[in-house]
Amino acid sequence: MSSYTVHVIGGDGIGPEVTSCAIAVIEAAAARHGFNVQFVDHDWGSDHFFRHGRMMPPNALDTLRQANAILLGAVGHPDIPDHITLHGLLLPIRRGFDQFANVRPARLYPGVASPLVGYPPKEIDMVVVRENTEGEYAPVGGFVHHHHPSEVAVQSSVFTRQGCERVIRFAFELARRREKKRVTSVTKSNAQAYSLVLWDRVFQTVANEFPDIETESLLVDAAAMNFVRRPHSFDVVVASNLFGDILSDLSAIVRSSIGLAASANLDPTLTYPSLFEPVQGSAPDIVGRGIAPHGSDLMRRDAAGSHREGGSGARRGSGYSRGSGGGQVLTPDLGGAKTTRRCGRLSWRGWDSWSYARAEPDREVVRMPPAPSTGQPARPFVLRSSGGRTDAVC
Ligand code: IPM
Ligand code: MN
Repeated sequence: MSSYTVHVIGGDGIGPEVTSCAIAVIEAAAARHGFNVQFVDHDWGSDHFFRHGRMMPPNALDTLRQANAILLGAVGHPDIPDHITLHGLLLPIRRGFDQFANVRPARLYPGVASPLVGYPPKEIDMVVVRENTEGEYAPVGGFVHHHHPSEVAVQSSVFTRQGCERVIRFAFELARRREKKRVTSVTKSNAQAYSLVLWDRVFQTVANEFPDIETESLLVDAAAMNFVRRPHSFDVVVASNLFGDILSDLSAIVRSSIGLAASANLDPTLTYPSLFEPVQGSAPDIVGRGIAPHGSDLMRRDAAGSHREGGSGARRGSGYSRGSGGGQVLTPDLGGAKTTRRCGRLSWRGWDSWSYARAEPDREVVRMPPAPSTGQPARPFVLRSSGGRTDAVC
């Protein structure tokens, strides 16, 4: 029986409520499909900061390196500036583990209403692929005359050819496994005449390798407008770190709620473990009430959808409404009245009623890396494509 090690950083606010739900779903999947998962819990985050003056121990990345995958709940505390919490935990993991492809699927599910009037289920089905290790988030800059009236702040973007190329190529490979087979590049080369001009050039070069994929290039402002005006037309959208950050929130809300948004920070080379997180944040106002948005707890809806659809074409599309009780099993952020755990359990039932095992291994896109300690062969549990769709799993 295969064994995996998943390291869990519940983190701040509602984070631990969300990860505990995710763990329950993974355990149910493991029991049903015959593999072992060992969870290693880390009490890192803002409480750790209050006790030790840092968000995680200095050797944290060495510890996490042993994992097959990492689950993160949330990072952020009202009493600590966000740039301290984020630069002390999430961002060093993304960069340190070279998780260059940040995959954020956004699909409109049956039983969940879009704020855009008149959008039927499944009409919105896009994935934002965000560059995750450089661009506008590169830690390059500083202050001059710090805290004096003449203070100057410099923050530089870093766009490398290799960095652009690998994430753009990832987006094209993803599009090949989906139905619409379209990649939209997000740019602003009319104003950013170096970084985004390089991005555009690399996009064109990579696009030439994929003649079967339809392409478009949109300025980021036009992309924002079109996410609202014609969200159904998008398939895979590839963007720089900051543009992808902003547009992925927009993609989440046009299909209902940031509470359904999930984020896979992938190192597709499998050199390092990948990290899976919800996008909703620590939500201190609802901590402990048991009503944290459940949809992102495991990215399991997309997972369930892709596996099921791969196994049984006749049943396509009904899994979410089953899992969500046709819209009755929803947390308050989605207009329902159920708790996080209840939704997790009921959703799992919906998922469980389909055959996870039917997923087609040959359509696998990204595999979980073997743990260095166990040397176990990788079992696909991360990102897969089936039935023409690719979704992040776990
Ligand atoms: C996200 C978040 C983070 C980001 C913040 C919390 C640093 O907004 O994952 O989208 O900007 O990447
Ligand atoms: Mn964000």
